[in-house]
Amino acid sequence: MAGNWKMYKTPAETHNYIEAFKPLVAASTHCDIVLCPPFPNLPAAVAEAAGTTIGIGAQNLHWGKEGAVTGEVSGHMLQAVGCSHVIIAHSERRQYFKESEPEVVKKVEAALEWGLTPIVCVGELLAEREAGRTEDVLSEQFDGGLAPLTPEQFAKIVIAYEPVWAIGTGKVATPQMASDAHRFIRSKVTARFGAEAGAAVRILYGGSVKPDNVKGLMAEEEIDGALVGGASLDPKSFAAIVNY
Ligand code: PGA
Repeated sequence: MAGNWKMYKTPAETHNYIEAFKPLVAASTHCDIVLCPPFPNLPAAVAEAAGTTIGIGAQNLHWGKEGAVTGEVSGHMLQAVGCSHVIIAHSERRQYFKESEPEVVKKVEAALEWGLTPIVCVGELLAEREAGRTEDVLSEQFDGGLAPLTPEQFAKIVIAYEPVWAIGTGKVATPQMASDAHRFIRSKVTARFGAEAGAAVRILYGGSVKPDNVKGLMAEEEIDGALVGGASLDPKSFAAIVNY
């Protein structure tokens, strides 16, 4: 269960959030829990989560180790700060920052090199779904961004299926729609990396997950977890999702 805070909260707010969140999930050993705050809040998040099972992730990284790349942050730096995860290719990165599949591959490889678990996002736009192109888009994203990985690299990643039309809109995909997309992604994994990899890969659903719809989504065998935006900004609400 991963919380994507996007561009919300200061370091002080991060500290207060995790202080309140910790006791609510102290007994939640049924899943991995990850919070992904903005870059400046990562040290405060790592410090406050120390000694708990809560992992801290970033929302993006650059593939280089260091260099003249103004405004970017490397996997090396995220590792040094104590991150365990990093979100890659969120649809907002794809849409607003034009991240492309070749960059996804480079970012995943860099994350793995620095010991970070990549949470790689895929998903179709509303127009693509309405045009019946959902599977084509998922195929393009898988073939371009994930198929080039080695089986060893692929074994360490988490996939998040996030239909773009469901993000921040309150329009959650039905459990059936999400499940169908997950099954399709899993079939791509099986075709490229084998049945064992297909069965083992964790596929999270993201897009308007809330405390009152998480249970129905998690009841689907294909759905292994959730990547939560808006509803992860409040510790009680995110804890309710974790403890669905
Ligand atoms: P949302 O965002 O839960 O606010 O829809 C999900 C995401 O963008 O990861």
